[in-house]
Amino acid sequence: MQFIIREANNKDLLKIVEIEKVSFGKGAWGLYFLKKFLEVKFNKIIVAENNEILGYCAFSDEGDIIHIKSIAVHPDYRKMGIGKALLREIMKYQKDIYLEVRVSNEPAIRLYESLGFRKIAILKSYYSDGEDAYRYYFKFLTFT
Ligand SMILES: CC(C)(COP(=O)(O)OP(=O)(O)OC[C@H]1O[C@@H](n2cnc3c(N)ncnc32)[C@H](O)[C@@H]1OP(=O)(O)O)[C@@H](O)C(=O)NCCC(=O)NCCS
Repeated sequence: MQFIIREANNKDLLKIVEIEKVSFGKGAWGLYFLKKFLEVKFNKIIVAENNEILGYCAFSDEGDIIHIKSIAVHPDYRKMGIGKALLREIMKYQKDIYLEVRVSNEPAIRLYESLGFRKIAILKSYYSDGEDAYRYYFKFLTFT
């Protein structure tokens, strides 16, 4: 599957909201939240696109470290390498990365582990429905 990865702008947000909704249901980010997110200088969203937006990743560059806030791929385009490609793009910043994931979210956990993220903590009742989260950490290694 051919696609490009680029930075998102306000025109992309409706499509991103759609993917959020089918991916996260009630807990999905809405348009207003996403607009506000992008107004913050250190926040970014990247999208994978061919003729349409296939997936996205929202993250905050916190200085020495990046916090991934949300990642999702449209259900019709999953398991085609798009999630991996989005994370690899963020790895190009050459910084450590951390994120939280539901303990039940096996596809996401596999994705993170396949790229070298390591589980470093369990966050009890992290989500509003009471589910725990794992915190995953990617250590950027320099060989200088
Ligand atoms: C998690 C998610 C983003 C993965 O995106 P994707 O584009 O399907 O992932 P990729 O095709 O790049 O897969 C990368 C690796 O993840 C693993 N993986 C992905 N989906 C999987 C699944 N359903 N079952 C098992 N492993 C899976 C595989 O190990 C795969 O590696 P491989 O291709 O070498 O076998 C996607 O499933 C999604 O949007 N889920 C709903 C939203 C979500 O849960 N986001 C994460 C919140 S923390």
